[in-house]
Amino acid sequence: MNERRTRYPGPISEAADHPHTLVDQGFAEDAVLATVLDRYPAELFDINLYDYDEAGQVSLRTGARGRLSGEALLEAIKQGRLWVNLRSVETGWPELWAAAMDEFRKIQATYPGLRAVRNAGQLILSSPKARVPYHFDAAGVVLFHMRGRKRIYVYPGDERRLPERNMEQVVARQTTEELPYDLAFEREAQIIDLEPGRALTWPLYAPHRVENLDRFCVSLSMDFQTWPSRFRNGALFTNAVLRSCGGRPRCTDAMGTPELAARWAASLALKRTGLLKSRIAQFERDFEPQIGAADGAGEIRP
Ligand SMILES: [Fe+2]
Repeated sequence: MNERRTRYPGPISEAADHPHTLVDQGFAEDAVLATVLDRYPAELFDINLYDYDEAGQVSLRTGARGRLSGEALLEAIKQGRLWVNLRSVETGWPELWAAAMDEFRKIQATYPGLRAVRNAGQLILSSPKARVPYHFDAAGVVLFHMRGRKRIYVYPGDERRLPERNMEQVVARQTTEELPYDLAFEREAQIIDLEPGRALTWPLYAPHRVENLDRFCVSLSMDFQTWPSRFRNGALFTNAVLRSCGGRPRCTDAMGTPELAARWAASLALKRTGLLKSRIAQFERDFEPQIGAADGAGEIRP
């Protein structure tokens, strides 16, 4: 049995990849993607441009959808350094979603005890040199890779690399998903190179980051909740509220299921009070995708 790389329980003990057939079904071809980009609702686009300093610390610029045709937007991504997320694939591209859920069920069946109760997905189109910073997702993830090559770094989910105080802030939407990052973490990274036709999953909450390997990349990132992850997210939310009131809550990894469930129930009531307002501001957009502009990022046109 493998060593568990997370302090949280769950059926997935380490990162592992699985086969999928989404590429064979034609979902990653240029003509198909261009058509989807043309019809995808503008409010479901997140366009990010990440820069890193020598210590690996990240800064972010965000883009607006702009007016490029699907075909031109695809070209801007291929030439630039952009990370484009199309949220809510379950409604935005139902054909891909149905096929991906079939694949998800096959993968889930390989983990005894894994039962997702809610799935959601985002289609990621990203430039050959794009990189995603160190972060965690408050959910399980299956990353269906469909085009290009990417290298995924997955880190142990312990208190040093995944402090619960930061998890609380993310779950309570007091910050975006970046965790404190230190180059020393690299010594413990599990590194996986993903090829099209492979889907990667990792332990719930495990911190990770992604580097594209010099090719335009297409992936479907599917996140899922289980009852245990719902309980823990609720407990983290309740702990965030307690901490904001001067409390010093215990870490959730020291709690059994009854206590996690009670804190989840408390979180539902606390969310209704609206005591802890989301601090994630509506971003001012910094650029619009443009073919030929540096990094694919052109000026916003009024
Ligand atoms: Fe992620």
